[in-house]
Amino acid sequence: MSTDLTPTPEDRFTFGLWTVGNRGRDPFGFETRGMLDPVDAVYALADLGAYGVNFHDDDLVPFGSSASERAAIVKRFRGALDESGLRVPMATTNLFSHPIFKEGGFTANDASVRRFALRKTLDAIDLGAELGASVYVMWGGREGCEVDAAKDVRGALDRYAEAVDACCAYVRDRGYDMRFALEPKPNEPRGDILLPTVGHALAFIERLTWPEMVGLNPEFAHETMSGLSFHHAVAQTLWADKLFHIDLNAQRIGKYDQDFRFGSEGVRDAFYTVKLLEDSGWDGCRHFDAHAYRTENLDGVWDFARGCMRTYLILRDKARRFHLDSEIQAAMLEARVAAILEPTMPDGVGPEAIAALRDESISADELGAVGYGLERLDQLVNELLLGIR
Ligand code: GCO
Ligand code: MN
Ligand code: MN
Repeated sequence: MSTDLTPTPEDRFTFGLWTVGNRGRDPFGFETRGMLDPVDAVYALADLGAYGVNFHDDDLVPFGSSASERAAIVKRFRGALDESGLRVPMATTNLFSHPIFKEGGFTANDASVRRFALRKTLDAIDLGAELGASVYVMWGGREGCEVDAAKDVRGALDRYAEAVDACCAYVRDRGYDMRFALEPKPNEPRGDILLPTVGHALAFIERLTWPEMVGLNPEFAHETMSGLSFHHAVAQTLWADKLFHIDLNAQRIGKYDQDFRFGSEGVRDAFYTVKLLEDSGWDGCRHFDAHAYRTENLDGVWDFARGCMRTYLILRDKARRFHLDSEIQAAMLEARVAAILEPTMPDGVGPEAIAALRDESISADELGAVGYGLERLDQLVNELLLGIR
């Protein structure tokens, strides 16, 4: 079976300017790479077969730029997009780098900081809309605390909802074709971050004024940091019709936010995630929110970008083989996988159906003695992933 592992724009792979432009700084060491011009990033990503490039406001237009500087930067960037064919599907705001956000952005205790954060976000929404973005990611990196005495969490959630509502109202007022995607993360850079997991964020959305305009941007690294299954998090997000965007990368449980090349850790969870995205027919962009190791020069950065896409394509092919593999399919029958799709109460939950349920003879001993064959199924999947099937 031949597998084409060359990415094309139809695969809908995207990278952030901050991902390939990451300069390798960490809390203990300085930058190991120079600045990457956003225009150079656009041409290089297009050459590699990517579909799009995303950015924080400050990645493209440095903080504090004048209106004329902004106009010149946007014009030059747009020229590169037009020439290369690369799109901008998503944009976001940097509410974490400048010292003004050290105590929070939308949920800072000081209302002037919150108003500044909101104003910066509305400007960045304009920038995103101008360049065609239809998804707006909100990652509240500084929304949280280290000192619980200093943060009223319920009040902070009120302010968070107020800010998201204000952004929705603005988008409606401007008539932009744009939806919001909240990105959960448990910690880093704050000791605890608000909306730490997919579950917290899904519940938050239901309390908003326009919940239909707000979904999620789950990240592999962030759910994994909490020891949770990313694949399950994405499945529940899809189940809730809230998968508006996705951040693919790699992470080991319990470590700092590693943002490694997709598939470099947790390849099994990566496989089930790819399989889920492909099986569900989800048509969003496959975005890589990751960066090259600090050891790499610019050549290594492009190896990193190629690697993310290639691994996705390999896992997509594995998902196809999974469905064609007769032994795997037989093992799934034995595991009764498809039976989960049958309703438990096909005749409803009325009194008659409940009475019928009571009358039915179900042998607990017989069912308790059944084997599901999961050892065999799991080994078959392992062998598929290890390349011998
Ligand atoms: C992280 C975050 C960021 C955000 C980005 C988009 O790795 O901690 O994921 O990379 O995704 O700022 O808002
Ligand atoms: Mn991350
Ligand atoms: Mn992310």
